[in-house]
Amino acid sequence: MIQYADIIVDLQAGDTGKGKVANHLTEQNDYTHIIRYNGGGNAGHTFYHNNNKIVTHNITVGIIHNKKSVIGPGCVIDTKKLLEEIEYLENMGYNVKDKLLIDKRVHIVKQEYIEEETNETIIGTTKTGTGPTYRNKYDRKGLRAENCEELSPYIIDIYDELHGKEPVRILFEGAQGFELDIDWGDYPYVTSSHCTVGGALNNGVPHQKIRDVYGIAKAYRTYVGSKKFEPSDEIFDYIRNKFDEFGATTGRARQLNWLDINELIKSININGVTTLIINKFDVLKEINTFNIIENNDVKSFESSDEFVQYIQTKLSKHCETLSDIKFSETPYII
Ligand code: IMO
Ligand code: MG
Repeated sequence: MIQYADIIVDLQAGDTGKGKVANHLTEQNDYTHIIRYNGGGNAGHTFYHNNNKIVTHNITVGIIHNKKSVIGPGCVIDTKKLLEEIEYLENMGYNVKDKLLIDKRVHIVKQEYIEEETNETIIGTTKTGTGPTYRNKYDRKGLRAENCEELSPYIIDIYDELHGKEPVRILFEGAQGFELDIDWGDYPYVTSSHCTVGGALNNGVPHQKIRDVYGIAKAYRTYVGSKKFEPSDEIFDYIRNKFDEFGATTGRARQLNWLDINELIKSININGVTTLIINKFDVLKEINTFNIIENNDVKSFESSDEFVQYIQTKLSKHCETLSDIKFSETPYII
């Protein structure tokens, strides 16, 4: 019996701090299940627990808090990478074996898909075989987790898991982000899954059970991939190096630009965000530069207060579903 479900959705192009928020919300709420709803080895989520820096790709933060950690039907898995990730977490002392659950419908990344992506440069993918796995899924030629012997100890039917007698309280921990969504993103510079609230709903949870939607953004934007994204300005180089804006999965340099307020409004409205978390506000404070992009022009503010004020006023005018905005200044909490 599902009591409620909260959703974490990245409002930009990934890497906005979903891992940190998921970790924090799991500490603050009595969730029973933390569910990944899209993507696979292309994701990289970083957070801190007991002074350890932890990076995960497939497994949600549920594991860290001894909650059920589910890989939902919209995801794909590279079995070898997943087994490595299980070992990495087990070696850190976390009990993965009893808490990791994989829906039988999840699709498996085949070695040939990874090889196919070796020389891929058009999109600048993570070369994890993610795109070809989804392609084969939609072509109805894919291999599903239910047919993968190595994963058999973890396989469940998510319907039975969520709709049994026991009370269930869910946190959805998404991967990638709105600007990478297969439909809403800047096609073809997108990933191959649904990174929106729509992706979360496709896990067998009725929409009436959705409680809060946590939209995660950064005070400036980053993007990893082939298209030109970063304007030439040495400040972006400075931010990248000083604040380590390099991909957690591939180590590639993230391109930077200022927060785009029109894109943010669109993303909040499409996902029905109730709480907005703007991460890395400390970075703007440290460089003492407060810029946004509005209608394709850069708009500058004199102080952090002016920046906050402007964003709050603008969003409260244009985003009906939004009831709270938090500007976060630490890698540990929201
Ligand atoms: P998290 O969950 C940032 C980007 C890739 C590429 C495009 C398509 O850590 O936010 P793919 O391998 O998915 O076919 O690549 O999407 N990309 C991400 N960028 N964060 C991610 O995940 C990403 N997952 C994929 O760089 O531009
Ligand atoms: Mg990431």
